[in-house]
Amino acid sequence: MSPEAKASFENIVAPVRETLAELPKRDRAIFELRLAHSWQDLFDGLTPPYAGREDFEPFLEKLVSLLACSYVARSEELKMLDLRRSLDTGWFQSERLVGYVFYVDRFAKDLKGVRDHLDYLRDIGAGYIHLMPLLQTRPEPNDGGYAVMDYRMVEPELGTMDDLEALCSELRGEGVSVCLDLVLNHCAREHDWAKKARSGDLEYLKMFHTFPDRTIPDEYEKHLPEVFPETAPGNFTFDEKLGRWVWTTFHDYQWDLAWSEPRVFLEMTDTLLSLANRGVEVFRLDAVAFLWKRLGTDCQNQPEAHDLLQALRACSRIVAPAVAHKAEAIVAPHDLIQYLGTNSRYGKESDLAYHNSLMVQFWSTLATRDTTLMTRTLTKFPEKPANTAWGLYVRGHDDIGWAITGEDAADAGLNGFAHREFLSDYYTGDFPDSQARGEVYQLNPATADRRISGTTASLAGLEYALEVEDETLIDLAIKRILLGHALILGYGGIPLIFMGDELALRNDPSYLDEPDKKTDSRWLHRPKMDWRTADRRKQPGTLEAQVFRGVSELIAARKRTPHLHAATPTRILDAYSNRVFAFARPHPLGTLVAVHNFTEDEQRFQTDLARAEGIYNLYDAISERRIRVETGDMIELAPYQSVWILDRP
Ligand code: GLC
Ligand code: GLC
Repeated sequence: MSPEAKASFENIVAPVRETLAELPKRDRAIFELRLAHSWQDLFDGLTPPYAGREDFEPFLEKLVSLLACSYVARSEELKMLDLRRSLDTGWFQSERLVGYVFYVDRFAKDLKGVRDHLDYLRDIGAGYIHLMPLLQTRPEPNDGGYAVMDYRMVEPELGTMDDLEALCSELRGEGVSVCLDLVLNHCAREHDWAKKARSGDLEYLKMFHTFPDRTIPDEYEKHLPEVFPETAPGNFTFDEKLGRWVWTTFHDYQWDLAWSEPRVFLEMTDTLLSLANRGVEVFRLDAVAFLWKRLGTDCQNQPEAHDLLQALRACSRIVAPAVAHKAEAIVAPHDLIQYLGTNSRYGKESDLAYHNSLMVQFWSTLATRDTTLMTRTLTKFPEKPANTAWGLYVRGHDDIGWAITGEDAADAGLNGFAHREFLSDYYTGDFPDSQARGEVYQLNPATADRRISGTTASLAGLEYALEVEDETLIDLAIKRILLGHALILGYGGIPLIFMGDELALRNDPSYLDEPDKKTDSRWLHRPKMDWRTADRRKQPGTLEAQVFRGVSELIAARKRTPHLHAATPTRILDAYSNRVFAFARPHPLGTLVAVHNFTEDEQRFQTDLARAEGIYNLYDAISERRIRVETGDMIELAPYQSVWILDRP
């Protein structure tokens, strides 16, 4: 420890001993060991944002007392899990882990309902389940649950905290981890903190960024982007009751929390740890890029946001090391990698982060049938720390924003603006020959930016193919869906399957009939589970059976292929063909080469690609077959086929 960290550690450790007094000696020792082990990380994370304040020491005391109390309250069962995980710190990197993501109400009505569908989750083989926001929200509109009114309560329609605890415990018994959103950048205007602030309590007012007039907001606005330009323009909202402007990055009812105030850190740490003590194992930290504001910048990815995430992660490490943190930062590659911890933060910040760029490249390449941009962009992508993993997805609950920089586009001979325009045209079906059926999300008049909504199946052309009843097109659309899944299952991280994709659920336009949803086209791709449709997965010959079986076979292949563990690096290969995308996973057991055909035609690639990686006896781990080498040392790939090549004599 640094001398400063050591001095403060000595100050706080005595009162901790008192709090822990009733615990058995071994438990006390474990806590102290962990506290000492993570203290430097915690101290370093809290110093830049808070050390200049005169209440820094009392704040540290309060925080450590909170950690100790949370540890005392942690159940024996969860403490055993902590122990197990400390023997297997890379548990979330395992090739055997597959994630499944859903809204509780849309999947099964409520938390109890989820327990009735465990067989379905077993069928998929999910070992990680992300229950979309389920804490009590303000009444609609609430941004799909991302406007939390009470972090201590489950949304009453979904159940209670006890139901959540029971579900976590049941799933844990089956080796399944529960992931929950922690919306920490903002809370609902109806949250108690905001209510107190609005009724004039200055202590609570400090928890938000508020301004008496437009002077400072206007200064900030000069550099701020717009998240919802159509439905919630501007980043500040005038609150009549308060008579002040409030920082609201997202909707006017989502008030940004002022993380510059230590109380916010204390409250959120308390929230996180109390949910961890209910059995939540992974936290999806929502919109973390926005946590810290700095005049003259776009107020994203500020160093203090990283400091705070490191400190928060240290708190979990001390109290509940079984817990993993996942950053939701939909930002540019160079900014994104920071959330997995680079330089001095190596391995200390988040265990997981969404690979937004891979998702965007997948859709972009499907549209162009040209892998140049994908190969070049991902080749330049910084390697992630070995002890972290990506959250990999084909689709999620949000829109697709075409995060392709002008520089990356130019590198592939494209114009960034024109390419993004093309992609929006393509996925709304406006481009000639496009079979995609998406919708525009949030046209930004200032930048002409158009994001896209739509389910995987509809964007992949299935909705159209069914409309025109064309068997060939249906088959190709299914192959595109499976290509996306092969990519996320092999790339290096937790594949996150978004509910419905495994059944090729199409767009659901019913949101247009709901007044509080109709302006938000993201509901187009948040369909309800139809259990009759789901049952058709068992009837051979149906569309559902085909897609479900295809996804299941890929999952099974992943689980028997140790090369796909997330600690194995991912190295993009030049495939000498702009029709295929290839990468290597160099593993002590031998290198795996993944090759994906991004076109509806047969493609060929040279065996040299594999030989250069030391693979001579070519075997495909997906189909479990030896690969036939054609004349001229070429390997043939069927339309949209993926192969995972291994050396197997
Ligand atoms: C996150 C969510 C998104 C939400 C936003 C504001 O990024 O994924 O759905 O609108 O945060 O909370
Ligand atoms: C932007 C934000 C992300 C948010 C999303 C909403 O991508 O970065 O946090 O969830 O928009 O659609």
